[in-house]
Amino acid sequence: MQYIEVDIELKKTVPYNEILIALLNDIKFNSYYENDNGLKAYIEESNFDLDLLKQKLEIIKEIENLSYKVNKLENNNWNKNWEESFTPVIINKNCIVRATFHEKPNKINYDIVITPKMSFGTGHHETTSLMMQYMFSLSFDNKNILDLGSGTGILSILASKLKAKEIHAIDFDKWAFINSKENILLNNVKNVSCVLGDIDSVIFKKYDILLININRNIILSQMNKYKDLMSVNSDILLSGFISDDTNLILNQAKKLDLKLINKKNKKEWNLLHLKKV
Ligand SMILES: C[S@@+](CC[C@H](N)C(=O)[O-])C[C@H]1O[C@@H](n2cnc3c(N)ncnc32)[C@H](O)[C@@H]1O
Repeated sequence: MQYIEVDIELKKTVPYNEILIALLNDIKFNSYYENDNGLKAYIEESNFDLDLLKQKLEIIKEIENLSYKVNKLENNNWNKNWEESFTPVIINKNCIVRATFHEKPNKINYDIVITPKMSFGTGHHETTSLMMQYMFSLSFDNKNILDLGSGTGILSILASKLKAKEIHAIDFDKWAFINSKENILLNNVKNVSCVLGDIDSVIFKKYDILLININRNIILSQMNKYKDLMSVNSDILLSGFISDDTNLILNQAKKLDLKLINKKNKKEWNLLHLKKV
């Protein structure tokens, strides 16, 4: 599979890297590598549209100078890139996300091994770590879980380790679907089913917990469907949007009678915990 790398340079990486990620997520970019000079963003070649990219970059260019290069990337370059940049991530002091070539530490209760390849979800991005961190404050015991936009499958793997009953990991990206299956095998979890599809591909009519780290537009357009998949007392964790957009999502939630339980943020990125009451 051929991937495109867009190498974006700009002076003020904060807050613009994060805003760029939100904008590029909307046009099917799915992996990012942040550095001191800006951001490298990755997209499957078949999803790449230069005009759409220019439109998105124009939004930032109006307020901040940036330059960019578009590179075609071979798979083996990509693997080399992430291997060099993948450092283990510690979440909640007791959970590590690491690659196969990192040693397993002794005093860690939750050990998650990820080979992300082209998919999103290594724990490095704020939205993933927000979701994972928050998951430790909920009870997953014997619950049915929907992980929509599952990427590498990282949230499903954690849900399984937190003793969930059955987990459905759904992603519309073929590569993420294949990769989540690989990661689920790597972690030897038995109760996660991966589905290539979208919100209309759910297996159950109701779930106890919905984990949704996608982006503002998808969440706004699908929130009524999320509600339909919840029973009274079901929880939903939403992430993938920045602070400026949180009120939009909260207004929609209010219209649907979903109650705000908690709100967290990491830098510009937000997480909302809502409940059906
Ligand atoms: C931000 S990543 C999150 C990955 C992982 N859940 C995490 O928390 O790190 C969003 C994922 O959602 C998928 N996605 C985006 N829109 C989707 C949709 N409408 N239906 C299903 N998956 C979608 C993308 O392919 C991507 O893998």
